[in-house]
Amino acid sequence: MNRIPLIAGNWKMFKTGSEAVSTAEKLANLTQNITSTDIMIAPTHLSLPLVTQKLLGTNVKVGAQNLYFEQEGAFTGEVSAEMIKDTGAEYVLIGHSERRQFFGETDESVFKKIKAATKVDLIPIMCIGESEKERNEKNTFAILDKQVKNGLKDFVSDDPDSLSSLVLAYEPIWAIGTGKTASVDQVDEIHKYLRSLISQLFSRDFALKIRILYGGSVKPDNVKELMAIEDVDGALVGGASLDPDKFIKIIGFSS
Ligand code: PGA
Repeated sequence: MNRIPLIAGNWKMFKTGSEAVSTAEKLANLTQNITSTDIMIAPTHLSLPLVTQKLLGTNVKVGAQNLYFEQEGAFTGEVSAEMIKDTGAEYVLIGHSERRQFFGETDESVFKKIKAATKVDLIPIMCIGESEKERNEKNTFAILDKQVKNGLKDFVSDDPDSLSSLVLAYEPIWAIGTGKTASVDQVDEIHKYLRSLISQLFSRDFALKIRILYGGSVKPDNVKELMAIEDVDGALVGGASLDPDKFIKIIGFSS
């Protein structure tokens, strides 16, 4: 099954609007000849309209880092799926571990957010992963199982077709921003497990179509071995996506 790799950059709470635009422009220039890989960057909500405008007609797509699941209403400080879609963004990160850790994101809110995203045809990148403690206690599979099953619960019975664009991102929390990367064997084991879990929940066909990204301290010097793993279909990159000269090296290894 030929899945087009996706290299996604999560800019977190970095870069003002003007910095985001100039970085995006530089990345667009560097990626002009890349055709075999999907590329996405996720700046802050504030920069979305500026960056999508700047990247029109380029190889670099844009995503948001979060959304709120209600359509509209008195939800001070929140941004809906439709508002994100309206900026021209095509992707949205959902359930990133920093949101789970600092902003009370739960499997239930992840589920509602994926539902809101698919309703307006935003591609959801659902982030899952275990903490160091959970891994040490040998709870990794149980945690991932729970995150996937609860995050996708009703889709399984009700509406699997609306999920066809789903991207999963496996990000062990202990590897995010720490410089520690999961080993090739660890990533291989987890990605295989995730694809078989999706296959059991939905179907083998469905599981073979969706992309499963690895995230957590992906850098130019470790991306090659990670991308060579059969069930790794790309990367979700934080720190190393902020600098286009570094990010292009990661993108270049992905096809
Ligand atoms: P990192 O972040 O590449 O800086 O570890 C990854 C992420 O948070 O998605």
